[in-house]
Amino acid sequence: MVLTLKHTAPRLLHLSLLLLALHYRLCEALNSEGLLLQSFKQRLTDPSGVLSNWNASDETPCNWKGVVCRNSTNAVAFIDLPYANLTGTISSQLAGLKQLKRLSLLNNQFRGKIPESFSNLTSLEVLNMRSNAISGNIPATLGSLKDLRLMDLSNNELEGPIPESFSAMIGLLYLNLSNNLLVGRVPEGALRRFNTSSFVGNTDLCGGDIQGLSSCDSSSPLAPALGPSRSASSSKSSFSAAQIVLLSVGLFLSFKFVIAVLIIVRWMRKDSNIEIDLGSGGKLVMFQGATMDLPSSKEMLRAVRLIRKKHIIGEGGYGVVYKLQVNDHPTLAIKKLKTCLESERSFENELSTLGTVKHRNLVRLRGFCSSPSVKLLIFDYLPGGNVDQLLHGEKEENVVVDWSIRYRIALGVARGLAYLHHACEPRIIHGDISSSNILLDTGYEPYLSDFGLAKLVTTTDTHVTLNVGGTFGYVAPEFAKSGRATEKVDSYSYGVILLELLSGRRAVDESLANEYANLAGWVRELHIAGKAKEIVDQNLRDTVPSVDLDLVLEVACHCVSLDPEERPHMSKVVEMLELLSVSGLSPGCASIRTSLEALERSASCKPLVSDVPGFRPVGSYFIFDT
Ligand SMILES: Nc1ncnc2c1ncn2[C@@H]1O[C@H](COP(=O)(O)OP(=O)(O)OP(=O)(O)O)[C@@H](O)[C@H]1O
Ligand SMILES: *[C@@H]1O[C@H](CO)[C@@H](O)[C@H](O)[C@H]1NC(C)=O
Ligand SMILES: *[C@@H]1O[C@H](CO)[C@@H](O)[C@H](O)[C@H]1NC(C)=O
Ligand SMILES: *[C@@H]1O[C@H](CO)[C@@H](O)[C@H](O)[C@H]1NC(C)=O
Ligand SMILES: *[C@@H]1O[C@H](CO)[C@@H](O)[C@H](O)[C@H]1NC(C)=O
Ligand SMILES: *[C@@H]1O[C@H](CO)[C@@H](O)[C@H](O)[C@H]1NC(C)=O
Ligand SMILES: *[C@@H]1O[C@H](CO)[C@@H](O)[C@H](O)[C@H]1NC(C)=O
Ligand SMILES: [Mg+2]
Repeated sequence: MVLTLKHTAPRLLHLSLLLLALHYRLCEALNSEGLLLQSFKQRLTDPSGVLSNWNASDETPCNWKGVVCRNSTNAVAFIDLPYANLTGTISSQLAGLKQLKRLSLLNNQFRGKIPESFSNLTSLEVLNMRSNAISGNIPATLGSLKDLRLMDLSNNELEGPIPESFSAMIGLLYLNLSNNLLVGRVPEGALRRFNTSSFVGNTDLCGGDIQGLSSCDSSSPLAPALGPSRSASSSKSSFSAAQIVLLSVGLFLSFKFVIAVLIIVRWMRKDSNIEIDLGSGGKLVMFQGATMDLPSSKEMLRAVRLIRKKHIIGEGGYGVVYKLQVNDHPTLAIKKLKTCLESERSFENELSTLGTVKHRNLVRLRGFCSSPSVKLLIFDYLPGGNVDQLLHGEKEENVVVDWSIRYRIALGVARGLAYLHHACEPRIIHGDISSSNILLDTGYEPYLSDFGLAKLVTTTDTHVTLNVGGTFGYVAPEFAKSGRATEKVDSYSYGVILLELLSGRRAVDESLANEYANLAGWVRELHIAGKAKEIVDQNLRDTVPSVDLDLVLEVACHCVSLDPEERPHMSKVVEMLELLSVSGLSPGCASIRTSLEALERSASCKPLVSDVPGFRPVGSYFIFDT
C-alpha cells in the first residue's frame, strides 16, 4: 500500500498541475465564436469606441457591446450595432456564427460586398444593413436562408439584378431594397407579394405586376415572330408543305436571332448609359459650407453614380459639365475633367486649396471626387448662363444688354481676379479667362469659373495646352509662345472681356478687318490711329456718358497691350473702375456699388489658406471602393 501511495503521489501532483494548466488555458482562451467576432472587428475602424469592450482576453463574447448569446449554449444569437459609426468591410468569417438569428448593422459605413458565405447563417431571421455603403451584387446564395423574416438592404450601393433565388423566399415578411443601383426584373414568386415601396429609388428595376414598377417588355417581341410565319402560309399555292415548314422555321429562327441581337444591343446600351465610371474606388470630398446645406459626400457619391447623358449642360476644354440636384439640396454643377493627372496627391492638394477660395465673384468649389479613372469637380450651379451667351447668344431683336449690367460684370470680374492675384496665398493665376467662363446668377452678378484649372491640367499634359490653357482670342501673345502664365496674362484676357462688353463683338470675329480677326489686335490698330472709340457699340455711344466709356476703353487698351509691363495689375483695374461709380457720373452704377460693398463686407474676403496646415480634407469625405 505504502509503496503504491509513494508511486501515485507524484503522479497526482503531475495530473493536477496539468489540469491547472488546462484550466488556466481555458480561462484565458476566447471561444471560437469570440475569435470570429475579433476578426470581424479587425476589419473595422471604430472612431466612437463602440467596440472597445470587445476584449480578446474574455472567455466568451457574451458581455461585449452589441452581442447577445443564447442562455444555454453561449452561442451568439444577436449582433446589434446600429448607428455605431463603424467603417470597413464585413468579414466573411461572421458566417461561422451558426446560431446567429439577427444581424443588425444599420446606419454605419460598412462598404464592400455582402459575403457569399452568409448562406451558412442558416438560423438568420433578421438581416438589416440599411443605410451603409455596401456595394457589389446581392449574393444569390442569400436566397437559401429559409428562416429569414426581415431583409433590409435599402440605402446602399448594391448593383446588378435581384437574384432569381429570391423567388423562393416565402418566409420573408419584410423586404426593402430601395435606393440602391439595382437593375433588371424583379424575380417572380415570393417577392411579388411586396409593393413598390420595397424597390423604389433603384437605377432600373422592372416587374410587371408590382404596382408602380415599369413592366419588363421582354415578352412582347415574340408577337411579331408569329405574324410573318402566318403570312407565309397564306401563299400556299406556290410552295410545297415541306417548303412552307422550312421557310417558317427559318423565318422564326431569324426573328429569334434579330430579337437576340436587339436584346444584346439594348443591354450594351444600358451599360453605356453610365456617364461617370468611378472605376475601382477613390475618394469623394465635400467641403463644409457654413451657409449652404450641401449634400453629404455619401449622398453625393450616390448621385454621381446616377448621372446620365440628360444631365449634360455643356462641354468645354476641360471636359463635360453636368447639372445635378441631390434631394432638396441646392443645385450643383459637376465637371468631369478630360485629362488624367499624374499625381493624385497634387490634385487633392490643389483642390483643397481651391476649396478655400471664397469671393462673391468666384464660383465656389464645393467638393471633388478623385479616383484613378475619373476626376470630378463640384461647383455651385449658376442659373443665369454665361456672358458669352448673354452678349452673343440668340436674343430678340432690339434687346440690348444695358450699360449698368455690362459695368457690373466688368467690375465684378475685376474684383474676383484681383482677389485671386492679390489676396490668395499662394496667388492663383486664372489662365483661362473667357466670356464663357464668366457665369451669371439671375441678377446678372458675374461669377468667374474655372480658376486654377489651367495650372492643374497643363502642368502634367502639355499637348492640351492649346485647348485648355486659354481660349483663342483671349490668350496673351507671350503666353501662347512660352506657355508661362503670369498675372499679366490674366490682365490681357480681362482686357479682351472689356472689349467684348464695349463692342458687343466676339473675341474672335471673322467679320473684323484685321488679319487675325482678333478683337484685341483690332483695337490696338485703332488705338494707334487715335480712333479706338470706333470699337464701342453705337447703341452704347448714344446712351452712356462718354466719360464712362472713355475710362473703360482706356483700361481695356492698357490691358491688351503687347508689352506685359504696360498692363495694369488687377487691383489697379478695380480702383480705376470704381472711380466711375464714385464720380457719380452714371447714376445707375452708384446704387450697384453701395449694394456690392455691403455684400463684400459680409463675405469672407480673406483666404482661409492659412487655416489649413498642409493637406486636410475640409469637411466630410468618403472613401469608397467597388
Ligand atoms: N457652375 C456652373 N453653373 C452653371 N453652368 C455652368 C457651370 N459651369 C459651367 N457651366 C456651363 O457649362 C458649359 C460648359 O462649361 P465649360 O467650363 O466646360 O466650358 P467653357 O467654359 O465653354 O470652356 P472652358 O473649357 O474654357 O472653360 C458652359 O456653357 C457653362 O456656361
Ligand atoms: C481585458 O480584460 C483583462 C482581464 O479581464 C484586463 O486585464 C485587460 O486590461 C482588458 N483589456 C482591455 C483592453 O480592456
Ligand atoms: C436569456 O434569458 C433572459 C432572461 O431569462 C431572457 O430575457 C433572454 O431573452 C434570453 N436570451 C435568449 C437569447 O434567449
Ligand atoms: C457617432 O458619431 C456622432 C458624431 O460624431 C456622435 O454624436 C455619436 O454619439 C456617435 N455614435 C456612437 C454610437 O458613438
Ligand atoms: C460554409 O459551409 C460550408 C459547408 O458546410 C463550408 O464548407 C464552408 O467552409 C462554410 N463557410 C464558412 C465561411 O463558414
Ligand atoms: C406597401 O406595403 C406596405 C406594407 O407592406 C404598406 O404600409 C404601404 O402602404 C404599401 N404601399 C403602397 C403604395 O401600396
Ligand atoms: C424602404 O425604404 C425606403 C427608404 O428608406 C422607404 O421610403 C420605403 O418606404 C421603405 N419601404 C418599406 C416597405 O418600408
Ligand atoms: Mg468654363
